[in-house]
Amino acid sequence: MLIQSAFRFSYIWKSITFDFRFGRISLFLLACFLTSACLVFWRLPTVRRFHPPSPRPASPKKAFIISAQDMGITQKEWDRLQKACDWPSPDGEITRLDQSTSPVHTTFSVKGLNETYKVGDTIRVTITARDHNNTVKSYGGDFFRAKLLNLTLKAGVYGEVVDHRNGTYTVDFLLPWEGQAQADVFLIISSEGVHVLNKYFESKPHIRYHGYFEGPGPDGVKIVEKVECNVKWGSAQGLWSKANCCCEYEDVQTGSVWQCERPQNLSCDYWVYHEHGEHQFPATPFERQLFSSQLTNVGIAGEKHIINVLPNASGIGEPERCRRGLSTPVPAGFYFQDVWKSFVCNTRRFNSQQMTSCLSNKIVYFLGDSTIRQYFEFFEKNVPGTSFNG
Ligand SMILES: *[C@@H]1O[C@H](CO)[C@@H](O)[C@H](O)[C@H]1NC(C)=O
Ligand SMILES: *[C@@H]1O[C@H](CO)[C@@H](O)[C@H](O)[C@H]1NC(C)=O
Ligand SMILES: *[C@@H]1O[C@H](CO)[C@@H](O)[C@H](O)[C@H]1NC(C)=O
Ligand SMILES: *[C@@H]1O[C@H](CO)[C@@H](O)[C@H](O)[C@H]1NC(C)=O
Ligand SMILES: *[C@@H]1O[C@H](CO)[C@@H](O)[C@H](O)[C@H]1NC(C)=O
Ligand SMILES: *[C@@H]1O[C@H](CO)[C@@H](O)[C@H](O)[C@H]1NC(C)=O
Repeated sequence: MLIQSAFRFSYIWKSITFDFRFGRISLFLLACFLTSACLVFWRLPTVRRFHPPSPRPASPKKAFIISAQDMGITQKEWDRLQKACDWPSPDGEITRLDQSTSPVHTTFSVKGLNETYKVGDTIRVTITARDHNNTVKSYGGDFFRAKLLNLTLKAGVYGEVVDHRNGTYTVDFLLPWEGQAQADVFLIISSEGVHVLNKYFESKPHIRYHGYFEGPGPDGVKIVEKVECNVKWGSAQGLWSKANCCCEYEDVQTGSVWQCERPQNLSCDYWVYHEHGEHQFPATPFERQLFSSQLTNVGIAGEKHIINVLPNASGIGEPERCRRGLSTPVPAGFYFQDVWKSFVCNTRRFNSQQMTSCLSNKIVYFLGDSTIRQYFEFFEKNVPGTSFNG
């Protein structure tokens, strides 16, 4: 059978519509990191055009967090992102590791545990964050991830973590399946660690770029030179001192100015492209300890109660048919027997043959970020006979 489906994929970096299954709190964190750094860096110049160094006014402190206009989003979206980025930070200067949140002393418990529950009930898990001296923390900002699991049933649901900014966090879980469940809480990054990340993301570009210049070398033979580049930020001068500064060019789409170290033998005009280089994280040795494997991404001790969930006699009702414009709750669904069940609407499962027949003679456009790219790659792999356009 000849199928004439075409898939088109395009990145739109500025659309940050991640649907992370682990809930909104991580979205907040990601949104923060995105707005503070990544978005600007991701938007590489699409038009390779040099401009003479443009006299620009000295940039403000957070030079690379520019404005809604620079990001190509509305002021309202910008304000929403800023608000989502509001993240509590420690009360004062952190100078000792024992002041930070300890995954060993931090605990969680199920409040008012009942012997049995019904599908559709909710339970509240309370997390109490403590430092390394076993003292309850007096401020919030810890990044926890909480889920309810039954590995035998291959079932899991995320819960949204609410930070009460006093060392206490609560998570309300909906009990969506019949059988047993257990709460599982991870400390992803301590409040102190988040603070350090924010500090550096706001003060220094954390991704290096390499610029490539190609042209005739001293003896006329074509040479390639690789130098360091970055978006112009901070002082008017950017990353390089005036003495050895640099090739400048402007992203005509965003108006942001990029700088490259001056190549040894080629002039600025021979710039061809630049690529994403290493990440740099200028934390001090003390700060780095906050990210050790003992302190990040670790399960915390909790009351590992078994939660018994009985069927709901009144039934929980079938979700409606999927259509456009339905709103998405948090969490948006859960896994059961390894199958995603949406709370939004009645999703269907398609086997390879059904996918193929459904998609034949169709053009499907994927617009989005790297999360959407994973769907694209899924289709590429699992729907035979399609043609792709990346
Ligand atoms: C932890 O306990 C030690 C020893 O009692 C004390 O010196 C230190 O100040 C305490 N740290 C915090 C963060 O309370
Ligand atoms: C737990 O049991 C108490 C007492 O029977 C009841 O009032 C409460 O609603 C129950 N909680 C849940 C979540 O079902
Ligand atoms: C923390 O704040 C919550 C919400 O305001 C409150 O219910 C709780 O009692 C507080 N916990 C402590 C230890 O102060
Ligand atoms: C998962 O559910 C099965 C069947 O209901 C039960 O036997 C098992 O103990 C549960 N496991 C956990 C971790 O709750
Ligand atoms: C630049 O030219 C000098 C002199 O010919 C040569 O030694 C050097 O390797 C060249 N540098 C690069 C990066 O090609
Ligand atoms: C049970 O089903 C009813 C009817 O769909 C629903 O309203 C209710 O929230 C469900 N859960 C409980 C605990 O009753």
